[in-house]
Amino acid sequence: MSKLPIGIFDSGVGGTSIWKEIHSLLPNENTIYLADSINAPYGPKGKEAIIKLSIKNTEYLLSKNCKLIVVACNTATTNAIDYLRKTYTVPFIGIDPAIKPAALQTQTNAIGILATKGTLSSTLFSKTSGLFASNINVLEQVGEGIVELIESGKLHSEEMRTLLKLYLQPMLDAHIDHLVLGCTHYPYFMPILIELLPNHVRIIDSGEAVARQTKAVLEQRGLLNTETLHSKNKLFTNGNPDVMQSLLDGKFNVDYLDF
Ligand code: DGL
Repeated sequence: MSKLPIGIFDSGVGGTSIWKEIHSLLPNENTIYLADSINAPYGPKGKEAIIKLSIKNTEYLLSKNCKLIVVACNTATTNAIDYLRKTYTVPFIGIDPAIKPAALQTQTNAIGILATKGTLSSTLFSKTSGLFASNINVLEQVGEGIVELIESGKLHSEEMRTLLKLYLQPMLDAHIDHLVLGCTHYPYFMPILIELLPNHVRIIDSGEAVARQTKAVLEQRGLLNTETLHSKNKLFTNGNPDVMQSLLDGKFNVDYLDF
């Protein structure tokens, strides 16, 4: 059982930022990654549509006998993970914007959250925000257009820089000292954020925490692969494999799959 793969899915290529963390923390684990790029972005879709797509991705991963599934997408986690956990017996690990550490540590009482419309309008997000940040100025910004740019291979474009400047300005005006990245595509433009934000603004990304949580759950359930053999990693997209390949620095093979 422990040799079975970990399944990971996202609306597209962004979840590879989580896959990298998992692969680096758990190099012995076999993995299958699914990028549902043909249906990206999930962010503007309604809850029902997001649940339906999450079921499709989950069923594919279960058909490959995955022992655990990582929903490497904030939008799918905040809208669909409750449903998935109620429906399937396999353990699910999700990701949602890390408001709590930002709210606990802010000195300026102002934090920024960049995420998709689907994440920011979810019940899970408003619950977490209400619980930890009710006395704080939370500047929520929908990253409209960002996922589309990354999915079309325009990560390093002038359009990306212009959009980010536009989205960050109100946060800078409100003197945020923490910026929470609420979408797994976003760590890929970290170099641009570092350039655009003053040094004292801390950028919070939960990729590493998801990998640690994955390890903890595998350990608890006796599912950790302790074999020292080289792991098998299969990375699939139903979009353009070249875009995903470039985010992985050409180090891993990406295949097209119609799922
Ligand atoms: N990577 C997804 C997330 O974390 C992107 C959502 C989208 O496709 O809009 O939310």
